[in-house]
Amino acid sequence: MKIGVFDSGLGGLAIAQAIMHRLPQYDYLYLGDTKRVPYGGRSQESIHEFTSQALNYLFEHDCQVVILACNTASAEALRKSQQEYLPRHYPSRRVLGVIIPTAEACFEPGGASRIGVLATPSTVESKAYERELLRQNPLAQVIQVPAPLLVPIVENDGRKYVDPILDDYLAPLLDEQVDRIVLGCTHYCLLKAEIRNKVSIPVISQDEVIPEKFADYLNRHPEIEALLSRGGAAEYHVTDVTSGYLQFAKELTQSEIQLKKVTLT
Ligand code: DGL
Repeated sequence: MKIGVFDSGLGGLAIAQAIMHRLPQYDYLYLGDTKRVPYGGRSQESIHEFTSQALNYLFEHDCQVVILACNTASAEALRKSQQEYLPRHYPSRRVLGVIIPTAEACFEPGGASRIGVLATPSTVESKAYERELLRQNPLAQVIQVPAPLLVPIVENDGRKYVDPILDDYLAPLLDEQVDRIVLGCTHYCLLKAEIRNKVSIPVISQDEVIPEKFADYLNRHPEIEALLSRGGAAEYHVTDVTSGYLQFAKELTQSEIQLKKVTLT
């Protein structure tokens, strides 16, 4: 059986590629809901509905475990998926989110006390990062900034315009003297170099965190790992294909991956 990686769009490819690089022996199915990206400004009901459809698709296509690489989906729909959807539909399968492992990475090593979070408006509103960071360290101070322009900039090849926008989003975090910044959105991994150039504190980027955390999960769950097939194959399914998406996927993966158009119901 495969490992599924779900994102609202193609930004999650950065995380998927990093996981595949760390664990190349398994088979993967990436699903990007390119027809409905971005999720970041949508209601909780819509995000939950879209995430359930994505899980249906990935489980019907033989995934044993699905990583919700999308922070917005993890923030809004993970708990309900684990507590309601899975027991009812696929009790032996697993859904993993990215917020808990990313929050853990903030306190390794040494630990931070003032943590800045950049995320989509919906993830910020959900307070999922704040909750998780405070659960792990009740003394931490969490300062969140919604960064709605970054996803469209990344998706539309607008990185040359990003400088003043990043300055604007980073200013409140730097004013608050945070000692670490979490990039709480798949797409922001693609801006990590620009962000690191602007600050002198550690920047937590999920493509550098999730692969090791997932490898650790598989070590701790040999019963799940034993069910995974080992062909080293990867398929990429999306709900819409445009020449822009093809170009974006090519740039992001530095390869000619095939995007297969599929329908979620
Ligand atoms: N993939 C989403 C996330 O990680 C960002 C893009 C969106 O708004 O859909 O939060």
